[in-house]
Amino acid sequence: LARGVAEPDLAGRHVVVSAGGTREPLDPVRFLGNRSSGKQGYALARTAAARGARVTLVAANASLPDPAGVDVVPVGTAVELREAVLSAAADADAVVMAAAVADFRPATYATGKIKKKDDREPAPITLVRNPDILAEIAADRARPGQVVVGFAAETDDVLANGRAKLKRKGCDLLVVNEVGERKTFGSEENEAVVLGADGSETPVAHGPKEALAETVWDLVAERLG
Ligand code: CTP
Ligand code: CA
Repeated sequence: LARGVAEPDLAGRHVVVSAGGTREPLDPVRFLGNRSSGKQGYALARTAAARGARVTLVAANASLPDPAGVDVVPVGTAVELREAVLSAAADADAVVMAAAVADFRPATYATGKIKKKDDREPAPITLVRNPDILAEIAADRARPGQVVVGFAAETDDVLANGRAKLKRKGCDLLVVNEVGERKTFGSEENEAVVLGADGSETPVAHGPKEALAETVWDLVAERLG
């Protein structure tokens, strides 16, 4: 490096980012899913790579091109996402859970396509809980000082809900978005407040998802010291 040119602040670090939304299959052709596009997680992966990190991007059903220089691990369900994130987190300096993880999955999987039979009423779908990956990683850090970051989309009392969630999850940082009619899902832009377990509150003005990603990495880099 030339004199006076700073080393990128995430050089030598390994970061894990999850992105997209899980799909929980009912049968070979159907699933329960959500509207996450994956754009925020991909922006996090791109910006971390640009800041010198080795990046593992665990991508759940995102129809986006692989970012250059990023190790992409494709997954489908929450259970698969958990496996991939835990395995990559073993030597990670930071884990950022930007993926929308289904809280529940169908209790059973039909190996053959579910058919409508005559004119009978459809059978109800029974759901079971998925593991809480963020809470698990935060509670059982693979290495001391690992920085764990969650995302939350909230309505109504956004900050109070965010504070309570940060505490419940045990993570270091929680990026809280307000969701509404036209906000967040599939959009190119985002607006958020990043809450810290140390009581800090960092507002991020409405703008490109890259800008929010850069703020997240600033806060992560501070905590890595
Ligand atoms: N998350 C996770 N595993 C789950 C559910 C969520 O790791 N089974 C992570 C998400 O990736 C996100 C954070 O937890 O980073 C918050 O997700 P959210 O859905 O807001 O939290 P929940 O605890 O599921 O609360 P809610 O009842 O509001 O959905
Ligand atoms: Ca949830």
